[in-house]
Formats: sequence, C-alpha cells, structure tokens
Amino acid sequence: MKDKIRKLAREKNAIILSHNYQPPEIQDIADLCGDSLELSIKAAGTDADIILFCGVHFMAETASILSPDKTVLLPKQDAGCPMAEMINPDLLTAKLKTLPPMPVVTYVNSSAAVKALSTICCTSANVVKVVNSLDADEVLMTPDRNLAQYAAAHTHKKIHSWDGCCPFHDRLRAADVKRAKEMHPDAIFMAHPECRTEILEIADIVLSTSGMIQYAGTSGHRSFIIGTEVGLLYPLQKENPDKKFYPASMELMCPDMKKITLADVAASLEHLTGQIKVPEHIRIPAFKSVQDMIAIK
Ligand code: 13P
Ligand code: SF4
Repeated sequence: MKDKIRKLAREKNAIILSHNYQPPEIQDIADLCGDSLELSIKAAGTDADIILFCGVHFMAETASILSPDKTVLLPKQDAGCPMAEMINPDLLTAKLKTLPPMPVVTYVNSSAAVKALSTICCTSANVVKVVNSLDADEVLMTPDRNLAQYAAAHTHKKIHSWDGCCPFHDRLRAADVKRAKEMHPDAIFMAHPECRTEILEIADIVLSTSGMIQYAGTSGHRSFIIGTEVGLLYPLQKENPDKKFYPASMELMCPDMKKITLADVAASLEHLTGQIKVPEHIRIPAFKSVQDMIAIK
C-alpha cells in the first residue's frame, strides 16, 4: 500500500501533508509532517498539482484557501475538529454586535467561513506574535478560550474570548500531570496551549506540536511528559530514539485525527475523491486572514 501511494503521488504530482497527530503509518508516507503553521506555509508554497491532506477538515480548507488552483484532497470527509464546530458565522456576527469594534483573532482550527469574518488567524505557534502585531488595545479571540487565556498571560492587550475549547486537551487536569511527574520525576513537562490554564501554569514549557519536537531534539534533558494529543508521541520517539516520552494522560486522544487509513489515502489519490474547495466569496476574505498571519512568521 505504501509503494502504491508513493507511485500515485509521483504520477499525479501530488504532495502528501500530515499533521503530527496522524497515525504512524500515515506520518511515514507523508512528504511533510508538521504543526498547523508549518503545514499552512507548505500548502501556500508548493508547486504540486494536488495537495492531499492527512488531518482534519479545517486543515484541508486552509490549503484550498491558500492554493485555489490546486486540487485539495481530504481522504476522509468526516474528519472534523470539534473545536472548530463550536463557532459559526452567525454566532460570531451576533457576538460582535455585543462588543465595541475590535479585531478578531481566529485560531486556524475554525471553518473558512469564520476565518472570512476574522481580522487575522493564528496558530498555537504564533498566537502571541499575532496578537501583539495588532494596532488595538482589545481583541476578540475565537474559538479556543484556553489559547485566549494563554495569549492574555503573554500580552498587555485585553483579550475577550469565545467559549470554545478542544474537548481532548481540555480534559487534562493538574492531578494527571502530578501523577505523571511522580512516576517520572526527572522528566520535563511540555504542554500545548490548548490545555487549561491550571496545566499551563505547571508546565516547564508551552509549545505547539512541532515546537515540542524541536525542543525535545535540542534539549539536554533525557525524558519528557507530553501534554498534548497522544499521536505526538510517535514523531517525538522516532526523531529522538535515545530519549523517553510519556503521555500526561492517555485520555488525550482525538478520534478525528485517527480516521484516515492508508487505503483511504490510496483511494483518494487514485480517484481524486474527497475534494475540498472553498467558494471564492468565502476564500478571498479568508485568504487575507491566513496570509496576514503567515506574513508575520
Ligand atoms: P498544532 O499542531 O498547530 O500545535 O495544533 C494542534 C492541534 O490541535 C491541531 O488540531
Ligand atoms: Fe480539534 Fe482538538 Fe482534535 Fe486538534 S486535537 S483536531 S483541536 S479536537
């Protein structure tokens, strides 16, 4: 199956992008694995004719926003992000009517239609830079309240937040981390900013998924407790075979990130099924929000 996929990708000039949470066999056949920011940058710059996205719906939409002339494939159409579904354009429009005028910073884990109504996007890797780049004292951040609280702790701006969250990162509790630390007292605790404030306050370091991979590679420490989706354990261990990685909790598992199989990838490439195309009236304003974020770096 892996040979078939690589052959199809060559023949069709397709690039396969995978999020760091995807199953090991999917990460192994991808041209690039990364966090949301890296994958967005790659989707904007590739000269492939087809972008096949192993991730969830909003990621494939972002690729379509950035590369409207390319065919974008999501091998499982029902792979979604529950956090992205906690906001929609009508709800955002209604919320904005209750606030004084201010920029809207929207996490990329959102639909294209919500991005289109936003001032700028952010990812977990650049949220503080994005918020600080804005010429405003107050901002509304959507849809992740935990990411908003993290940003609030690292900026002087007043942050209004949407009441959404990643249901999996939001499950992690300080007691889980305490238990993991008792079992692995020498380990560094790395947390993702989608976790609750009580977790971020006890973290040794707060990073995006690729930030965690980079940190583990360069750090002198030998063992790490991982406060993000358990799929990240695979690339961490693969890139650092001499170091030890422990999940903060096995409850931190996103079923939508595990839906795509090798057979789905092969079928999608072969028959061009699972195409994602953002309509132009949404894509053009959404493009501005995503492109302005990428320009900040
Ligand atoms: P990053 O990989 O950008 O850190 O995001 C985590 C996530 O939840 C993606 O859905
Ligand atoms: Fe969405 Fe959370 Fe799954 Fe990421 S891990 S795709 S934020 S539900």
